[in-house]
Amino acid sequence: MTAETVLEARDLHRFYEVKGGMFSQGGTVKALSGATFNLEAGKTLAVVGESGCGKSTLARLVTLIENPTSGALKLGGMDVATATSAEDRRTLRQMVQIVFQDPYGSLNPRQKIGAILEEPLKINTSMSAPERKQAVMDMMARVGLRPEAYYRYPHMFSGGQRQRIAIARALMLKPKIVILDEPVSALDVSIQAQVLNLLTDLQQEMNLAYLFISHDLSVVRHIADEVMVMYLGRPVEYGTRDQIFSDPQHPYTRALLSATPMADPNKKRERIKLIGELPSPLSPPSGCAFHPRCPLVNDRCKSEGPVLHHATSGWDVSCHAVEEGRKG
Ligand SMILES: Nc1ncnc2c1ncn2[C@@H]1O[C@H](COP(=O)(O)OP(=O)(O)OP(=O)(O)O)[C@@H](O)[C@H]1O
Ligand SMILES: [Mg+2]
Repeated sequence: MTAETVLEARDLHRFYEVKGGMFSQGGTVKALSGATFNLEAGKTLAVVGESGCGKSTLARLVTLIENPTSGALKLGGMDVATATSAEDRRTLRQMVQIVFQDPYGSLNPRQKIGAILEEPLKINTSMSAPERKQAVMDMMARVGLRPEAYYRYPHMFSGGQRQRIAIARALMLKPKIVILDEPVSALDVSIQAQVLNLLTDLQQEMNLAYLFISHDLSVVRHIADEVMVMYLGRPVEYGTRDQIFSDPQHPYTRALLSATPMADPNKKRERIKLIGELPSPLSPPSGCAFHPRCPLVNDRCKSEGPVLHHATSGWDVSCHAVEEGRKG
């Protein structure tokens, strides 16, 4: 049986025009320049990279909050650009849901949990009030919330419990795809593991596809099937979890990994320090955007931008040095 592809992104771009001010330069922010990937039912693709590399921008495109500047996006086989009827939009919106990092900001403090979870059903289904309540009670049990939570307000819950509520809300309409934008980054480490386990269980039960956005590689290592590493709006390496973690190719991936404490203390790893700051996507460096920070840089990297392509390693890498077998 071939896996069901629930999301196809082809060369997605998103630019923002910004006006200059007294202290800032105007121009075009290239927040995302060329993301191509597939997502399959029951699988997790992790998107990693430093702050500002375009992860949340990608999340906004995939959840239809914003339109891409160019590129194509298909959800459940439907082309988002041409599915414009009210009914198509509703189908698409139900197919993809998002859970945000901040469980405090994402729940309406004036609504009880029951009302928060019933709202998507009220808007999108013709279920009766008793049916809705039953569906909410079932979902609360599934995410590990007690029945009395139905009558309580968000402020009465801890961060971890709130994130369970946010997950429950995202799942009320039985989506195929869930975007998790740093879903555990705001939680204590002990709580993170519980929420990650819950997400893994729910994925198996409901055959969910996850786009898991995180800057924390030790979390990604536990949850991802595939990993896409982004730098300044572009994917620079894209492979399976085992490929990326056991034999990272791109110097940026290697630097990110070398900065992550890993579970296996016997594994010797080089420590690569990233020099300099992340440049602004308003004025990205010439050639390869990573070149000012790269230990393997040469003249070609300064003038010619590499493209993501199948490397000899067997997966996708965007780097002249890797392509040429150049070592530091
Ligand atoms: N509406 C906007 N207008 C102008 N620039 C924007 C807008 N939204 C995002 N950007 C810029 O686009 C780039 C990518 O932003 P994005 O929020 O996608 O990054 P991120 O990878 O999610 O970062 P973080 O890890 O901090 O959440 C950043 O430089 C950001 O300042
Ligand atoms: Mg973000």
